[in-house]
Amino acid sequence: MPMIEQVIGPSTEEAAASILERCEALARITDEPGRITRGFLSPAMAEVTTLVARWMEEAGLQTELDIVGNLIGTYPCTDDDAPVLVLGSHLDTVSDAGRYDGILGVLLALAAVEALDRAPLPFALELVAFADEEGLRYGVPFLGSRAMVGDLDPAWLRRRDREGVTMADAIKAWGGDPTEVRCRYAGRRMIGFVEAHIEQGPVLEQRGLPLGILEALSGACWMRIRFDGCAGHAGTTPMALRRDPVPAAAEMVLAVEHLALREPDLVATVGKMRPSPGASNVIAGSVEMSLDIRHPDDRCLARSIESLLDNCRSIARRRDLQMHHEVLHRQRGVEADARVSALLRETANAVGVETGELALGAGHDSLIMARIMPMAMLLLRSPGGVSHHPDEAVLPADVGDAFDVLHAFIQRLARETVPDDRKTDPVFIRVDGDSGSTGVDLDCKG
Ligand code: GLV
Ligand code: MN
Ligand code: MN
Repeated sequence: MPMIEQVIGPSTEEAAASILERCEALARITDEPGRITRGFLSPAMAEVTTLVARWMEEAGLQTELDIVGNLIGTYPCTDDDAPVLVLGSHLDTVSDAGRYDGILGVLLALAAVEALDRAPLPFALELVAFADEEGLRYGVPFLGSRAMVGDLDPAWLRRRDREGVTMADAIKAWGGDPTEVRCRYAGRRMIGFVEAHIEQGPVLEQRGLPLGILEALSGACWMRIRFDGCAGHAGTTPMALRRDPVPAAAEMVLAVEHLALREPDLVATVGKMRPSPGASNVIAGSVEMSLDIRHPDDRCLARSIESLLDNCRSIARRRDLQMHHEVLHRQRGVEADARVSALLRETANAVGVETGELALGAGHDSLIMARIMPMAMLLLRSPGGVSHHPDEAVLPADVGDAFDVLHAFIQRLARETVPDDRKTDPVFIRVDGDSGSTGVDLDCKG
């Protein structure tokens, strides 16, 4: 197998301009006119997926869609047993999103692959555009990457979206069979998963660095909490006789903030709250709220969750309410793979880009892919630290730097992957069995 040496590709500036133009093109495809919003298997997701598939094919990748709508572009490789490098990120968004969260990682990887100009590689390369990372439609995240590692919780298939469509029916309507979820990489030898992503926080900007290399991703828990009381007339029910769940929810929100301010590195957010029936002249009968809580140390996360739940129970008791909670998602934090990350860092040094190391509290497809293969992330500075917001931004020069690093990383890996000794090279791991489990208990959903 000839190894690639120097590939003549587009200039850094040309590549960055084309990546950013593509981000703009995708930003125009939305489920909500006037905002960027794309949910799992929605019409806008179908449209962006078709467009990105066309770009992948023009770059010489063979494309396929898996049963949940993940788009996979495979670089030509004649050796079925070649170890696999996976690059990618997600194409779905939060509601009223920015242009870059997830999308930029897919398009950066695509540009880096395009710049190889179809030169043969001594490993298999797959570019993945995940169908769901944000959990917008079903309130549970990582549907794309979880399906890819063969771990889509069967209970989730019964969840309903706002129109009452179950996840199972949405997958069937799309043409997939939800009972057919399998780990895509079972039995394959893996080099790893490398995801480029905006930092979504202020750290790189504060340190004056264009790019960062991930150290670790925080663990997280998503919960739904409900207080049930008694609905009533807002004008005729004396205050002392009310069982109003709204003040209980307010106490809970303050308790969440208080705990997170006290506990170093803990972040906790109530992003949704819905009193029902929800009218200005009706005392609510129930309030449902979301809780998103994250910490790099799982023991501290578990302790914090328990303490907040205890707090909720005592608020409910004191106010004569019922309290219910449901854990929707629970994921321990993971560390980035030291070897793949070192290769990424050394490559950045070699192309003259300064990087720093940082841990992240954001959820990423990398958290899930790390269950079955070494994982590394290349992070781009986020101006103003803004993300999950239409003002999300990137600097074109940073996009150029990230393109140079990813492109050079693939070339470097190609030079270092010697076909004859690759079977003993510890950078490759073999994914066992159908479940794709490495035996590391990273998932502890409750
Ligand atoms: C996803 O972007 C998350 O961090 O929730
Ligand atoms: Mn996001
Ligand atoms: Mn993202």
